Amino acid sequence: MNWETFADYGALSDRAASILLAAIGDDPHVVLGLPTGSTPVGMYDRVVAECAREYRCFRDVVTFNLDEYVGIPRDHAGSYAHFMQQHLFDHIDIRPENAHIPNGMAPDRGVECARYERAIGGAGGLGLTFLGLGSNGHIAFNEPGTPFDSRTHVVALSESTRRANAPFFLDQRVPTHAITMGIGTILESRAVVLLASGEKKREAIERLRSGEESVNFPASVLGRHPNVRVLVA
Ligand code: GLP
Repeated sequence: MNWETFADYGALSDRAASILLAAIGDDPHVVLGLPTGSTPVGMYDRVVAECAREYRCFRDVVTFNLDEYVGIPRDHAGSYAHFMQQHLFDHIDIRPENAHIPNGMAPDRGVECARYERAIGGAGGLGLTFLGLGSNGHIAFNEPGTPFDSRTHVVALSESTRRANAPFFLDQRVPTHAITMGIGTILESRAVVLLASGEKKREAIERLRSGEESVNFPASVLGRHPNVRVLVA
């Protein structure tokens, strides 16, 4: 793992955005894995600012989001689909059919998970995937204990994750489940960039840095991957 440490969140976001934009520069058809959460917001802001200048940035780019809540409509303010529209997709020239997010409203979730895996494969696999880090070491919604070879699947959200997301669901029950790319799915991405910022992530970062590998600390699996950058602020 290659570690890069930044003085503050702004500098981390600048670096993350420049990695993303360079990937598009190298391959305009790149397939990106994209995260939600508060950590990538600064990266998206910078990408949007840059792409407004350089029209057609995302014309041939394909994206796959890491996860989505089950049972929350796309246009609900708490959905990850809504988050992506608000922070990225509404402001860039990506073709809507190239911006993939698991469908949390699918009548058969198992079928939806299999479809999502096939779609990633059909696009040629993930080229560059950005990840946030849960304070318990989770990546996407792969909570501690998730097998390292897992594929896209449905997860029951932990109480702490549901509490953390409660402010987005004032008008309805906080979702109990989500669809997430599996750890095996993420590991097949040719390159991975993990973003971690703030005091709340300090312990998880130190645990990751220790090199200990454990299914009880999902991010530790990244030690097996040949092309991982960890950006820390
Ligand atoms: C959620 C998301 C993860 C994200 C994590 C951390 O659990 N499913 O993909 O990495 O939150 O979020 P934040 O960046 O807000 O700390």
